[in-house]
Amino acid sequence: MTGPHRHFRVLPCRGGKNTPKTSSERNDPGVPSAALAPRTNRERAAAEAAVATILTVNLRVQNVDAAPDTPLLYILSNNLELQGPRFGCGLAQCGSCSVLVDGVEIRSCVTTLSAVAGKSVTTLEGLPAWYAQQKKLASAPELHPLQQAVIDEQALQCGYCYNGQIIKGAELLSKNPQPTVEQIRTAMNGHLCRCATYPRMINAIQRASRTMAGNASRVGAPVAGGGR
Ligand code: FES
Ligand code: FES
Repeated sequence: MTGPHRHFRVLPCRGGKNTPKTSSERNDPGVPSAALAPRTNRERAAAEAAVATILTVNLRVQNVDAAPDTPLLYILSNNLELQGPRFGCGLAQCGSCSVLVDGVEIRSCVTTLSAVAGKSVTTLEGLPAWYAQQKKLASAPELHPLQQAVIDEQALQCGYCYNGQIIKGAELLSKNPQPTVEQIRTAMNGHLCRCATYPRMINAIQRASRTMAGNASRVGAPVAGGGR
């Protein structure tokens, strides 16, 4: 891929020809290993107290053997080797770890495994299938309309925030298919982008909204600006 798209990687569903690689294979720091090692008596006790927890991730039932208070982000990144959710602040402040749980965006860095037992988790990889299920489509598209719109609008730069911004934008569009600029700004408020691509993300969400409504033509001027 060339030009301004080169920093944006579209993540495929697991099981496809581009099945995600392990952290070491993809040269991705992922969740710091130091953060995973038990450091306190409480963490050591939790590790010894691992129990089987059943949850659904991207429409697949998963039986995860881990301590109930393990952050969901660690389960997704390390046990299930999903690349979508990313470790950023670890404090529910940035949104880079966001996933949908039963259709609602949550911060997986501060959500425990036990809190999602029996629930349906959707990561960036599963967004097209989640969208197809919502819209009762016969099959999942290659990309969620917002993923495609982000590419078409060249909305992102380094891409570190894109997981959270796309997850949150998809949640917004599922609840409000035609959000105003102000509603988009309010919804996206908790997602930090160090490259300041906020106006371009607004344009992408509006483009996805038009696509989902069956009208890809732009009405009115795009939101100006955006960190380039
Ligand atoms: S890593 Fe979860 S909100 Fe920042
Ligand atoms: S595009 Fe760089 S952090 Fe958002």
